Amino acid sequence: MRCKKIYQIAKEIDNLSKVRTKDILKKLEKFSPKFLGRGKYKRAFLITCISKEYVFKIGELIQVDKQIFESLRYNRKMSYAKIYWTTEKCLLQRKCEIVDLSDEEIKLRKKNAKLLGYSDARKSNLGMNNGKIIAFDLKPIGEIK
Ligand SMILES: Nc1ncnc2c1ncn2[C@@H]1O[C@H](COP(=O)(O)OP(=O)(O)O)[C@@H](O)[C@H]1O
Ligand SMILES: [Mg+2]
Repeated sequence: MRCKKIYQIAKEIDNLSKVRTKDILKKLEKFSPKFLGRGKYKRAFLITCISKEYVFKIGELIQVDKQIFESLRYNRKMSYAKIYWTTEKCLLQRKCEIVDLSDEEIKLRKKNAKLLGYSDARKSNLGMNNGKIIAFDLKPIGEIK
């Protein structure tokens, strides 16, 4: 398992009734956490584990992210950042490079995501991995508001 120690911390976080960003940073202390931001559904942290960077997320709809990753796994039209594991409220994901994408590139991802039943392929949810543009956060069309 990738970053087993972080998986154990994730299990602890699952059991907290109130998850404060400050407490998460403290729990992840050994992995040089940096708060990346929060959107409507998740909080994201950059962490370093055995010299490699990952993105650790906490949210309520984590299983949806996992399902999206699985459903796009072998898709040529749209790639989704690898999710190594999930717990009830947390996940560990491949870190993507945040690059300046052109309107054309974003438009194509939006179109392809829509064809596959997903929305939200906007600039703040896309990154680069191995020279390819990939999404790290999508939503199933119509399911969550
Ligand atoms: N895999 C990733 N690689 C790099 N940055 C990421 C990754 N996942 C999230 N981020 C950063 O964290 C922010 C919030 O994460 P995101 O998954 O989009 O959560 P939300 O559902 O709240 O929008 C993103 O806008 C992005 O800046
Ligand atoms: Mg997002």
